[in-house]
Amino acid sequence: MATTTQIAAAVPPAPIVGEIAIRPATAADAGRVYQLITENLVAGHLLARPLGEVELHVPRFLVAADGDDVVGCGELARLSPAVAEVRSLVVDGTRRGTGVGRRLLDALIAEAGSQRFPRLCAFTHQARPFVRAGFSIVPHPWIPAKIAADCQSCDLFRRCRQYAVVLDLKRATGAWR
Ligand SMILES: CC(C)(COP(=O)(O)OP(=O)(O)OC[C@H]1O[C@@H](n2cnc3c(N)ncnc32)[C@H](O)[C@@H]1OP(=O)(O)O)[C@@H](O)C(=O)NCCC(=O)NCCS
Repeated sequence: MATTTQIAAAVPPAPIVGEIAIRPATAADAGRVYQLITENLVAGHLLARPLGEVELHVPRFLVAADGDDVVGCGELARLSPAVAEVRSLVVDGTRRGTGVGRRLLDALIAEAGSQRFPRLCAFTHQARPFVRAGFSIVPHPWIPAKIAADCQSCDLFRRCRQYAVVLDLKRATGAWR
C-alpha cells in the first residue's frame, strides 16, 4: 500500500483547516467510510454501499484524516488486470474545496501505479476533479471491464449520464518502465 503522506491542507476558503494525512483505511475506519458514502449518495450520485461491503473492502480504501477525524475516502477497485477503478470518492461537506479530494485522487493514482495497473478509470457525474488530475473523458465502451462487471446489470444501463474518465498510468506515473 501507499506510504502515509503528510499533507498540509490549503488555507481559506476552507472553513476548517488542518494537517491532513492520506493513509490506507483500517478496519476501524469502516463505519466512518460507510457514513461518508451514505451521506453523499444524492450529492455525488454515488452507488450505495452496504456496511458489510465496506467492511469487506476497507483495505482497498484510502482515507483523508485530520487527526482521528476521517474527512474523506476513496476506493481503488480492480476491474481486470488491465484496469482499476476509483470508487466512492467522497470528501466531507465541511472540507470541500480545500484540495482534499485532489490529494485523495493523487494518492489513489499513485497506489494504482504501484500495483502496476496500466489504466485507472472512474464513472462519475463530476468529471472535473478527475480531468484536473489528468483523466480524459472517453466513451463508456472503452472500458469493457466496467460494462461487463457493473453496467449491464444496472437499471440505468445506457442512460446513466455518468462520464467515463480514464488515465493511462504508464504515462502518468513513473511506476512502469
Ligand atoms: C468530488 C469531491 C470528492 C471533490 O473533493 P474536494 O476536496 O472538494 O475537491 P478539491 O478541493 O480537491 O478540488 C479538485 C478540483 O475539482 C473541482 N471540483 C470539486 N468538486 C467539484 C464539483 N462538485 N463539481 C465540479 N468541480 C468540482 C475543484 O474545483 C477543483 O478544480 P479546480 O482546481 O479547477 O478548482 C467532493 O466534492 C465530494 O465529495 N462530492 C460528493 C461526492 C462526489 O461527487 N464524488 C465524486 C463521484 S466518484
